[in-house]
Formats: sequence, structure tokens, C-alpha cells
Amino acid sequence: MAIQPIRIFGDPVLRTPARPVTTFDKELRTLVKDLTDTMLDAPGAGLAAPQLGVSLRVFTYVVDGEIGHLVNPDLSLTDEEQEGPEGCLSLPGLTFDTRRAYGVVARGLNMHGDPVTVEGTQLLARCIQHETDHLDGIIFIDRLDREQRKAALRAIREAEWSGGPAPQVKVSPHSTFGGAR
Ligand code: NI
Repeated sequence: MAIQPIRIFGDPVLRTPARPVTTFDKELRTLVKDLTDTMLDAPGAGLAAPQLGVSLRVFTYVVDGEIGHLVNPDLSLTDEEQEGPEGCLSLPGLTFDTRRAYGVVARGLNMHGDPVTVEGTQLLARCIQHETDHLDGIIFIDRLDREQRKAALRAIREAEWSGGPAPQVKVSPHSTFGGAR
């Protein structure tokens, strides 16, 4: 088990578009394990690498008991939409109804570099869209309409975790040379 601290809203890493993974090595497998362990411990339905301070295009999910991960995801969305409650481990305790596509086909790679496709609707589709947004520096409150977003920002200002210090942005899971690639 390698449970890592989760970065909180306001940390610049959450607003930084993540880089595609190009090296499928032991460090990447450790990152996937850390994401999985931290997600299950929290617990949450998904966790993206930037939430652990690593700006790489990787996320994990657990929906209906199925645990998975995706590297360098590329999404196709249905026109049909869903609206329902959504939250984020980087905004503890806050939930807002968020509009999403009803279904998604996500193509990407697994941690060994093999092509994988994850297809889902409802909660799995919502989770995949939410986590892929994290890889683009997008946080789910950005998807809210104007009035809801104002309410969300107000709730964030009032949250006890807001306004903390902003730690460093890493661009590699390699602790020894973050920023070198
Ligand atoms: Ni999130």
C-alpha cells in the first residue's frame, strides 16, 4: 500500500494540462498502484495523477466494484446527456449536480503500453469524463452553469481546507528528476 496525500483545489498542478505518458516502466506501474491505493483508501470513484502532484495523463477508477486504470485516454461521448451529483477528492465534502454525456468510449493504454478500450454509461461514463478533465486541468465545477458555479465557489471559499499553501508541480513520477523531461 502506498497511500499518497491528495492535492487540494487551489494547487496549480490541478490547473496544469498533464503530459502524455511516453515511458511504460516500473515508475509508471508504481504511480498506478499509488493512485489505486489512494483512491480506494479515500474512498473515491476515481483519481487522476495530477491529484497526487504528478502531471501525467493517467487515472484510475473503481465503479461497481470494477477497478481499472487508463493511460493517455481519448474519449468519444454520446450526444445523450445525464445530470447527477458529482464530487471530487480535491474538493472534500462538496457535491454539485453536473451535466455529463450519458455514455463514453475511452481509448487509451494500460500501464504496460497495450491498447485498451473502456466503454461505459451512467456512473462509469461520468467518472471517466471527470478524471479525463483532470488531465486537461479542468475541475468539475468548471462544467456547472454560471449560477451553480458561483454557489460552488462560495462553498469552496467557506470550506475549511481552502487557502492552503500551494506545493510544487511535478511532471514525472521519478522523484529524482521531476521536470527533466
Ligand atoms: Ni476529481
